[in-house]
Amino acid sequence: MSQPVAKVSLTGIKPTGEPHLGNLIGAIRPALQLAEQYDSVYFIADYHALTSVRDPKLLRHYSRSVAATWVAAGLDPNRTIFYVQSDVPEIFELTWALSCVTGKGLMNRAHAYKAARDRNVEAGEEPDAGVNMGLYNYPILMAVDILIMESDVVPVGKDQVQHVEYAADIAGSFNHLYGESYRLKVPQAIIPDAGTGHTLPGLDGRKMSKSYDNTIPLFLPENQLKKLVRRIPTDSTPVEAPKDPDGSAVFQILEQFAPPSAAAVVADTRKRLEAGGMGWGELKNVLFDVLNTELAPLRERYDELMQPGSDLDAYLAEGAVKARERAGRVLGSVREAIGIGR
Ligand code: TRP
Repeated sequence: MSQPVAKVSLTGIKPTGEPHLGNLIGAIRPALQLAEQYDSVYFIADYHALTSVRDPKLLRHYSRSVAATWVAAGLDPNRTIFYVQSDVPEIFELTWALSCVTGKGLMNRAHAYKAARDRNVEAGEEPDAGVNMGLYNYPILMAVDILIMESDVVPVGKDQVQHVEYAADIAGSFNHLYGESYRLKVPQAIIPDAGTGHTLPGLDGRKMSKSYDNTIPLFLPENQLKKLVRRIPTDSTPVEAPKDPDGSAVFQILEQFAPPSAAAVVADTRKRLEAGGMGWGELKNVLFDVLNTELAPLRERYDELMQPGSDLDAYLAEGAVKARERAGRVLGSVREAIGIGR
């Protein structure tokens, strides 16, 4: 159904942990929605994860698990180019070429690198202690991910906007030097509206994030999911007392997660909390039921896809072919423009 004029939306997903509810609400659902509107290119950024994941088994597991999650959540591999970054060697060739037009100063100013330096200085360490060149060059690899697929827009979280701006800068440097023979497309970041725009609270009430270890993993067995939901903090307001739904982490998770089919349940729950007479225990049961109803079919599909030799392998193999074809065109033009190859 893709029209030839449709713009390309690309995003990379770094496989550094078990997929959790925050990923589904904040990244996966908005990206799948964008896929209705754009020609979408989504990939697993396994080489980006390598700057921090040191356990080979774990890296392989996370890569597969994140890929399976996106497909289980509804990504259609026939309509989206879906692949694993490391399956596209063209990316690495272009990374060197574009490193040669990228100022070192630009990398010095990258947020992630600067934050690592600041932490070191504060701790009285060498500024670059523990910083590997992968972390330092990270923005160049990411720029190539974006530029090699001729992306128009890049949906990302706020923390990644600078990287997309860097991709635009690097494309600009290349175009300035070689633009008479070939121009790279200059991309733009977009921050998809994630549901209500509120942050999703985790098990301790802070923002749900792997780094706080407070997530609700997506594919827990039912009994464990129930246990986790019980752990979400509540105050000691008695059952009869009126409650503020917007001040409750449990209700916020319910509201942000609930699919349209559960809208009536959410509205009714809000009313009952405000009126008094609904306790936190009952609210947690409502949340568990909504989560479990929605996640059960995803869990089943996920388990199938995680099996060796499942459909997932075929999807990713086809995705790699399509991605390499696209990347090969851009790389070929760049090589020609810069004087590499005969
Ligand atoms: N750096 C991104 C993150 O940490 C992942 C990523 C890698 C990416 N390459 C990309 C995102 C290209 C968008 C486009 O989330």
